[in-house]
Amino acid sequence: MYQTPFHTQDISQLSFLVTGGAGFIGSNLVEYLLKYQAAKVVVLDNLSTGFRENLQSFSQNPRFQWIEGDIRDLPTCQQACQDIDIVLHQAALGSVPRSIKDPITTNEVNIDGFVNMLVAARDRQVKRLVYAASSSTYGDSQNLPKVEHIIGNPLSPYAVTKYVNELYANVFARTYQMEIIGLRYFNVFGPRQSPKGAYAAVIPLFMQAVLAGNAPTINGDGETTRDFTFVENAVQANILAAITTSPEAINQVYNVAVGDRNSLNQMYHILREAVGSDLQPIYGPFRQGDIRDSLADISKAQQLLGYNPQIRIKEGLEITLKWFRENMFEQVAHNE
Ligand SMILES: NC(=O)c1ccc[n+]([C@@H]2O[C@H](COP(=O)([O-])OP(=O)(O)OC[C@H]3O[C@@H](n4cnc5c(N)ncnc54)[C@H](O)[C@@H]3O)[C@@H](O)[C@H]2O)c1
Repeated sequence: MYQTPFHTQDISQLSFLVTGGAGFIGSNLVEYLLKYQAAKVVVLDNLSTGFRENLQSFSQNPRFQWIEGDIRDLPTCQQACQDIDIVLHQAALGSVPRSIKDPITTNEVNIDGFVNMLVAARDRQVKRLVYAASSSTYGDSQNLPKVEHIIGNPLSPYAVTKYVNELYANVFARTYQMEIIGLRYFNVFGPRQSPKGAYAAVIPLFMQAVLAGNAPTINGDGETTRDFTFVENAVQANILAAITTSPEAINQVYNVAVGDRNSLNQMYHILREAVGSDLQPIYGPFRQGDIRDSLADISKAQQLLGYNPQIRIKEGLEITLKWFRENMFEQVAHNE
């Protein structure tokens, strides 16, 4: 992965903090930053949904530093932000169903934890904070493709938390003259995304099922559409947001996707072909809080950040599949 850099500037003088760095997107950010010689990469993670295994190959790197801790604790956030130039804030409790089952914990981590990180970044004079926002902020808006300034009502507690993050980011940027950029990810997938637990995302669940020779369950009729985004594209957006020097690109929120939409049936078809399987899926009930169609307009990120997603769904699924074949059974065994 990450055969060519997304940045042209030198990052060897910059120190990064990746919160949620033991998770899926966070560990991919760590991989990129260490590969391209960032001065220091600190990870803050409480391992609630992440895994130390995701960082195993970096643990001996002298530029890597691990902090096991919780973003709900302000002193921990302050300590993690010490001598940091750029924060890439990924730590949160994802999953719409989890937030419906337990809105209090989702709120504590995603909102209280977020405000703690903003305060810590402010107090430690971090130069910039880039954070994981979400396409769930579009809620019940029927507008397609989704453009950043047209949002609807949130459809889940999770969506509320991600929208509140954007409101706080905006207020902190104005009030404390901070540089903050939000990235609204659209269904990110790729290596190190966990298929485990009740709240796993659809692509790792399907991969795990098909590789084990089991039929996956599609929620609803399979005609739900998503702008599936390979993780390298999300990493690219983070790096560009972290280093942009363009004043109009800062204190903005951006869609991070490919600008292409596939139904769950189409995605499963591509996956099945890649695996060489003829398993038919099982269709289950629609999931509460899910939006029917999702497709991003990515022109804002293209124009202001120079974002140019390189990998589309088919290639992304093939890379992910290769990773699952090489790692899945080992990882499952390790965590049992
Ligand atoms: N994966 C997607 O499709 C997607 C889409 C939209 C937004 N996002 C957002 O992107 C971010 C990363 O998501 P991901 O898919 O990598 O999920 P993930 O669950 O793999 O990673 C989240 C990480 O945050 C850590 N974490 C959770 N609560 C914490 C706490 N209280 N203190 C410290 N660490 C904590 C977890 O242990 C985990 O390592 C999240 O903010 C998520 O809401 C993801």
